[in-house]
Amino acid sequence: MFGSATLTRALAATALVHSAFGYVLSRDDIEIVDSLEEADAELSALKGPGGPGGLDWSDVAKLEPATINGKKYECKCYPGQKCWPGQPKWNQLNQTVGGALSVHIPPGAYCHNTMTGPLGTFNTYDAAKCQDALANFASESWTVSQPAAALWTYATNDTCLPTTDPTEPCTLGYYGVYVIKATTKAHVKAGIDFARKNNIRLIVRNTGHDFIGRSVGWGSLIINTHSFQSVEWINKYNGPGGYRGGAVKLGAGVQGRSILEQGHARNPPVVIVTGECPTVGIAGGFIQGGGHGPWTPLKGMSADNVLAFEVVTASGTYLNANAQENTDLFYALKGGGPASYAVIISMTVKTFPDLPSAGAELYINTTHTVDSDTFWNGTSIFHKWSNHFVDNGLYVYFELMPFTFRARPFVGIGKTAAELQAVLAPFLAELAAHNIPHDFSIKEFPTFFDLYVDLFEDEASGNSAITGGWMFDHADVAERNDEIIDAFKTVVAVPDRPDVFAFIIGHLFNPGYGQPVSNSATHPAWRNATDFVIATVVVPPGVPLAYKADLQNVLTNTIDKALRDASNSGCTYVNEADPYQENWQGHFWGSVYPTLKTARGKWDPHGVFYAIATPGTEKWEVVEDGTRLCRVK
Ligand SMILES: Cc1cc2nc3c(=O)[nH]c(=O)nc-3n(C[C@H](O)[C@H](O)[C@H](O)COP(=O)(O)OP(=O)(O)OC[C@H]3O[C@@H](n4cnc5c(N)ncnc54)[C@H](O)[C@@H]3O)c2cc1C
Ligand SMILES: *[C@@H]1O[C@H](CO)[C@@H](O)[C@H](O)[C@H]1NC(C)=O
Ligand SMILES: *[C@@H]1O[C@H](CO)[C@@H](O)[C@H](O)[C@H]1NC(C)=O
Ligand SMILES: *[C@@H]1O[C@H](CO)[C@@H](O)[C@H](O)[C@H]1NC(C)=O
Ligand SMILES: *[C@@H]1O[C@H](CO)[C@@H](O)[C@H](O)[C@H]1NC(C)=O
Ligand SMILES: *[C@@H]1O[C@H](CO)[C@@H](O)[C@H](O)[C@H]1NC(C)=O
Repeated sequence: MFGSATLTRALAATALVHSAFGYVLSRDDIEIVDSLEEADAELSALKGPGGPGGLDWSDVAKLEPATINGKKYECKCYPGQKCWPGQPKWNQLNQTVGGALSVHIPPGAYCHNTMTGPLGTFNTYDAAKCQDALANFASESWTVSQPAAALWTYATNDTCLPTTDPTEPCTLGYYGVYVIKATTKAHVKAGIDFARKNNIRLIVRNTGHDFIGRSVGWGSLIINTHSFQSVEWINKYNGPGGYRGGAVKLGAGVQGRSILEQGHARNPPVVIVTGECPTVGIAGGFIQGGGHGPWTPLKGMSADNVLAFEVVTASGTYLNANAQENTDLFYALKGGGPASYAVIISMTVKTFPDLPSAGAELYINTTHTVDSDTFWNGTSIFHKWSNHFVDNGLYVYFELMPFTFRARPFVGIGKTAAELQAVLAPFLAELAAHNIPHDFSIKEFPTFFDLYVDLFEDEASGNSAITGGWMFDHADVAERNDEIIDAFKTVVAVPDRPDVFAFIIGHLFNPGYGQPVSNSATHPAWRNATDFVIATVVVPPGVPLAYKADLQNVLTNTIDKALRDASNSGCTYVNEADPYQENWQGHFWGSVYPTLKTARGKWDPHGVFYAIATPGTEKWEVVEDGTRLCRVK
């Protein structure tokens, strides 16, 4: 997301200037609570000799007991504790992974004389690497290529930014302490086994795009899966499930634009359902959250198109998950939450013939009007027509800030410019009828890929922000458009909080248009989606913890609340939402949740994996200001 230069400038400007949501229980929630009890019962029934599902858990290390603020916990093991493995054990792990283990040095550390973290203090200054970091900290591709860097830095605690003053302090913040740059599945297994046997927090890091810090974890061992770049095209799939069309088997590390480029080079050109962002991975967090993108209106969520996974489980077992083997795992990996069931090594997904496409752009900003009513009336008219757009199979990506509205692009796959123009005509006519000044343009492309390269932009990394968001469905837009626009106004100008800088990224798409029935673990409400908006709140690096908590509170209880209150029936997206909201289970998964909780209990009963607000993590907490991971006793 965050394509525009506008947003990048706004974020930079803000950085310079600064150097219990009351949920009303609905019928849906009550249903979830009931079936949760059933899920627990089902899970107990699974517990046979050797543990649930017959997996071997005999070598799992015990959690460390701890009492924190009078509350009893059991925690992961951290440096300095007796349970922490000694150097010989780490050396042994390094040998097992062929030397691919390193102490994690985040990119900013090379600009500082030293970096201090849970393992101690290291001399880190390196002039050349520092220049590299200073020059590239805002580059997505460069950040992705680092061993474990996060693109969105808030979750790292921003304690070691690149600088020209090497005497500035640098600490590891919330980053992990060791990283395995895995190049074989045996490396992945070695990392999982080590974490399981030594009670160490494990983080899987693919591209580092995660908005909510799920590829960052204090004191952890990190497995980097980005090196899995294999791509194998299949003209006619012959595996389980009955599908016999085109497919591609891709390594866990392959990114969106890369696979679209490689697909474009095929004859005839093919596509898969990727995100709109060129650098998001496909087979990591994206697919495990569900995955939406420009092809979603025609082919559903990305997760609806998966044919098979190859994984390593929390118990260190290599498995296939597909329509015949380990079907519960197969289901859960398709949208059931990242870093929860297994580490993905490869994924096979359906391919589709690329199609001629049309794209359009529309702007309303200070170039056009400085009248607030006019600006918001234009925005409101756009949003009023959003059901019409998605009912015609369009995907639309838009950005909204005070006096900046930008819909770029409107995407009509399989449509000519004239056909797209015809879909947009009644909307444009209404803008004209209300004298809303704007700029509009439309283009035609031989393929979707050509449109993608032209109209979707690379985005900036290195920003610190927290993320919320909500999906508005057809009924919301039809009946409550004014309320939705009022909520948008609250987001971009939080009442009485001139210090808060927040903006909206919207995505109009309906997976139910082309794939009316879900076969993935995504929330059923997506099948009637119209607009999924992300609300982003900028958090200046280094501000006191209390101010961070205050901004989080604004996100949860003002911004997200306004969005949710404007909706009667939507849901939200586990990958692009506030993990601190009440009833995340219902909001992320709805009626699917109990099945996922059961799957989690079977495939990772001991919490080898952890990502906030994923199935079965109710008892886990990150305590002591974002550091230790513990389970409530
Ligand atoms: C600029 C930008 C644009 C985006 N655009 C879209 C979009 O168009 N559509 C959309 O749906 N989402 C989009 N997202 C959100 C995206 O889906 C999430 O950020 C997602 O978590 C990224 O997954 P990753 O594997 O690339 O990132 P990472 O940060 O590396 O990992 C994310 C999560 O997945 C887990 N994980 C990673 N690899 C594996 C693996 N091999 N096995 C098991 N677990 C793994 C990690 O542990 C972590 O919990 C966007 C995000 C950004 C920053
Ligand atoms: C792991 O081994 C490699 C190669 O021998 C070495 O360069 C690296 O420093 C070792 N890592 C650790 C953490 O000791
Ligand atoms: C995180 O940052 C806050 C400042 O926002 C600081 O008080 C705290 O000590 C930091 N913690 C770690 C582990 O870096
Ligand atoms: C905007 O909408 C409001 C209320 O619907 C109306 O009073 C106002 O005249 C409109 N302004 C423009 C410029 O259309
Ligand atoms: C305003 O819209 C114009 C197109 O009419 C665009 O070129 C410009 O970049 C936009 N300005 C901002 C600040 O977004
Ligand atoms: C989607 O919502 C509309 C409006 O509420 C309704 O008419 C339609 O039946 C819904 N479709 C599905 C698949 O639920």
